[in-house]
Amino acid sequence: MKDYLDLADLGDDRLEAVLSLAKHLEAHPLGEALRGRTVGLLFMNPSVRTLSSMQAAVMQQGGQAFVVTPGSGSWKMETRNGAVMDGEAAEHVREAIPVLAQYADLLGVRCFAEGKDLTTDLADGLIRTMAGLCPKPFMNLESARAHPCQALGDWKTLDDLAIPRRGGRFVLSWAWHPKALPYAVPASALEMAVRRGMDVTILRPDGFSLPDEIMERARAIASRTGASLRETADRAEGMDGAQALYAKSWAAPAFYGRPVEEASFRAPLRDEWCVRESWFEPAEAHAKFLHCLPVRRNVKVADEVLDGPRSAVIRQAGNRMHVQKALLIELLGGHAR
Ligand code: CP
Repeated sequence: MKDYLDLADLGDDRLEAVLSLAKHLEAHPLGEALRGRTVGLLFMNPSVRTLSSMQAAVMQQGGQAFVVTPGSGSWKMETRNGAVMDGEAAEHVREAIPVLAQYADLLGVRCFAEGKDLTTDLADGLIRTMAGLCPKPFMNLESARAHPCQALGDWKTLDDLAIPRRGGRFVLSWAWHPKALPYAVPASALEMAVRRGMDVTILRPDGFSLPDEIMERARAIASRTGASLRETADRAEGMDGAQALYAKSWAAPAFYGRPVEEASFRAPLRDEWCVRESWFEPAEAHAKFLHCLPVRRNVKVADEVLDGPRSAVIRQAGNRMHVQKALLIELLGGHAR
């Protein structure tokens, strides 16, 4: 595997090997597997967890990392093919990626959805173009349609919590947010859950079904793994017997690229779709709450959930570092044990 762009890039055997290595590295965090290696990190969009966990992962395994943040100490970067660059951007990724690749043994790149055209964003072409421009191993640190490091960390979190793979009851719920958010995290969380073979429910208001392309892909994976997949707008039905609730907001597909109309459509859902402790009444007694973070307290999720015993969000964030360490070693051919 040269590139990690999507959870599907890890076949079943490599996925198990990476998870096993991540577990080992959690118990034995310091090592030399990346000694002499340099990792370049290009963040076209902001981050707390991904930025810091990637740097910590590299350093704790004896390597070095450098960070480039276009428009904030580095040149603003253009990504569009054929752009006439007479605006703010002074550099194009077509040069930046191969240049940075000469200084590093692996590049990790974050580049979010543009949020204008649904088909374009779901095709995830930009991260694939950038990976193609990079002659070295390449990691997707969240693109338009995928957040595969988050998905892998979430997989490990569910394992840590002893939530069953085959038949475990997983609810992916829409939650209210003041902005129309992209599909990368919900698409990757859904892919992760069906790949595990879970009994998956998508709980969402009418008009917020995930796009067909994401659902079709999930159904194809489910048919291989034995997962089940259903959707509902009924909270009591959706949460019945749930063992894990994963909350995330995403844009209404019908209004994609039209944020003002989307905001009007979303506005009435605000109070009803903030996750509260009462949501868990039909769930298993010790059902867990997951969220990728950052999260807007008392908008998307109430304090009582985030500060209560159900919350696994800190563990999720911790697992980002363990799985990324394992992925870096996998991609760079290091030896950690
Ligand atoms: N979950 C996640 O990717 O967090 P950051 O956006 O802070 O990196």
